[in-house]
Amino acid sequence: MSDTQGPPQGSSRGPRNAHSHMWLMGVAGVLAGAGMMIFLPQLKIASTSILLFAGFHVLGAIVLIASAWSAGVRGWVQRLIRPAAKDGYDFGWGPGWMNGLAIAALVAATAAIVIELQWPALWPLGFIAVALAIVLMTGNQIMQGFQRPDHVVLPMVDLIRGEAPLVLDAGCGAGRTTIALSRVLGAARVVAVDRFDAGYIDGGGRELLRHNLERAGLSGRVDVQSADLTALPFAEGRFDAAVSTHVYDHLGAGKQKGLEEAFRVLRPGGRFLMAVWTPGLTMFAVANVFSLLLTSKAGWRRMARAAGFQVIDEGAFNGAWFVLLEKPAAVSGATAA
Ligand SMILES: C[S@@+](CC[C@H](N)C(=O)[O-])C[C@H]1O[C@@H](n2cnc3c(N)ncnc32)[C@H](O)[C@@H]1O
Repeated sequence: MSDTQGPPQGSSRGPRNAHSHMWLMGVAGVLAGAGMMIFLPQLKIASTSILLFAGFHVLGAIVLIASAWSAGVRGWVQRLIRPAAKDGYDFGWGPGWMNGLAIAALVAATAAIVIELQWPALWPLGFIAVALAIVLMTGNQIMQGFQRPDHVVLPMVDLIRGEAPLVLDAGCGAGRTTIALSRVLGAARVVAVDRFDAGYIDGGGRELLRHNLERAGLSGRVDVQSADLTALPFAEGRFDAAVSTHVYDHLGAGKQKGLEEAFRVLRPGGRFLMAVWTPGLTMFAVANVFSLLLTSKAGWRRMARAAGFQVIDEGAFNGAWFVLLEKPAAVSGATAA
């Protein structure tokens, strides 16, 4: 499967940020502090404090500007510069919980500055707040990436076989995976399945999916169906291949059942490309300690094998982990214990 980039994105630079004076203060503080340390060694405590203060300002400025940019300024600028952006893909992932990370970063950065100004003796606490702000901001940037057309890609793996294969997009949402699939579809058809009830996708995704498929020129080649992945309304062996990104990690207690259903509806020899979030540094930036609750790669491999799959390939993809699974050709459809 190709990992070709999506359509070129118009790049835009925002207006000069109102807080850019913070950079000046930071740099001036560094110079003043360094000068005092070199030329007035007896004032070591004062000069070290100024350096520390400057450091907080520079870090605070970075987090503040980046947070404001992610939390909304970017959208306003893009709308001003590219009013036709609504004609592009829209994955509807701009909800509060995503910007929540940017807002939390802003709060942590502000807390760091307040601590440094009001209670300088508590500077270790201030450093922790800055570190937290940076982690939260990084998480926000990772989350924002999921809305970008250049993330509409799939790992390059040997997935689709046959003359005119039928491919299942399990948990299609607003169609990101379906569109990425379209680059290598050939004569294949796609059945895009979702419950279309996700609160974090605007309107559940069905209308966005229609819009995105139309824009990708795929409307006539994709059948959209509303269904639950833990009880698929398809006959055994119906699909030649299946793909799913960022879905099975949402199934909670239904993960094993979901994998068994994917196994059932694939034909023998059919392959399933699944991408999920697993614990790691990327997910730590996004979800902090909650990332430790995610199923590990070993856990997914175990569940996939228990469903009857063989693990063919695996790797990293858009900050997630992907695995290519195969239903062995000799199996008629019954899941292994
Ligand atoms: C994070 S979105 C991913 C959407 C799309 N695959 C993508 O990568 O952009 C997860 C999707 O899984 C769907 N979903 C979650 N649990 C489901 C279930 N049990 N049955 C069907 N769809 C489900 C949600 O409705 C949502 O659209």
